[in-house]
Amino acid sequence: MEMLKPVYIDGHTVVILDQRFLPQKEEWLCLDTVDKVFYGIRDMAVRGAPAIGIAAAAGMAIASIGIGPDMDFIRAMEEAGKYLISARPTAVNLEWAVNRMLGLARGLSKAWDSRVERLFAEARVIHEDDIRMNLEIGRLGGLLLPDGAIMTHCNAGSLATGGYGTALGMIRGAREAGRDVKVVSCETRPYLQGARLTTWEMLRDGFDVTMITDNMAGYMMSRGMIQAVVVGADRVAKNGDVANKIGTYTHAVLAKRHNIPFYVAAPWSTVDPNTLTGADIVIEERSPDEVLFCGGTRIAPEGVKVFNPAFDVTPFDLITAIITDRGIFRPESGRIDWENPKK
Ligand code: MRU
Repeated sequence: MEMLKPVYIDGHTVVILDQRFLPQKEEWLCLDTVDKVFYGIRDMAVRGAPAIGIAAAAGMAIASIGIGPDMDFIRAMEEAGKYLISARPTAVNLEWAVNRMLGLARGLSKAWDSRVERLFAEARVIHEDDIRMNLEIGRLGGLLLPDGAIMTHCNAGSLATGGYGTALGMIRGAREAGRDVKVVSCETRPYLQGARLTTWEMLRDGFDVTMITDNMAGYMMSRGMIQAVVVGADRVAKNGDVANKIGTYTHAVLAKRHNIPFYVAAPWSTVDPNTLTGADIVIEERSPDEVLFCGGTRIAPEGVKVFNPAFDVTPFDLITAIITDRGIFRPESGRIDWENPKK
């Protein structure tokens, strides 16, 4: 099966697979303004830390088209960057991609057409780099996974990245290394990325996939039905604490209780040495409607209060290993030597 790329740059636009309609409908959107990119990210037509980074990089290139010779180029680019970053606060890849584009913009000549083309070329490089990092994570991490049922939460697959995926890339890597792996996908309330996206993407690739509701994980672990857990990350703090989709922390606690390895897969663009610990990570809170409605049907009475944090933080001591494209880190001490990964 050809690698699924849910986001790509086509001329002066970014094209995304609209994930709000999966698995029912495969609809592609062509985003050609900064506003469209902003809303595509905020409303989760494109989602997953690396994928929103790629879309934002393209958004920065799109922004450069509208900056005429009489305007302050860098200032206008910085404003576009600030706007795009404000779409979603937790995933560091968004900020990382915008800053990389700004770094390039600062060194560009004043010629309008050459700077626009250079910025689009850079966004394409960010996309290609992301796929390369995922393949490496899959190659390194796949070897860590045992035969058996590998549980995952949310969607950290092709759909969340430039292609191949991080956590799901590890599962793909395990299969490529000859392991006999099956996927257990937690539904991931409230947005159902596990139910809608991970199942769709892994079935498409011919995996054996079982879907469970999030509250079934402990039961399965206690019965020896899960051999490893692998998840993605939205931000990895310097001490190894990891922000990821709400519910990840619960799975990590359960995995520890049952001596099941708990792996985090993340490209280098998700590692954020400027954030010292998980306590410093801003957690996005989203609309109450995501909790109040399921499949378009209201499931709770009028008047009930709702709390909807989109992410949680898993402390480093619950994580067996963080697998990056640069190598493997074991964060048990909270003092990770990021310069010296294990290959
Ligand atoms: O809110 P989402 O769907 O963007 O959240 C996605 C996740 O939490 C993923 O696990 C994370 O971004 C890693 S994607 C490789």
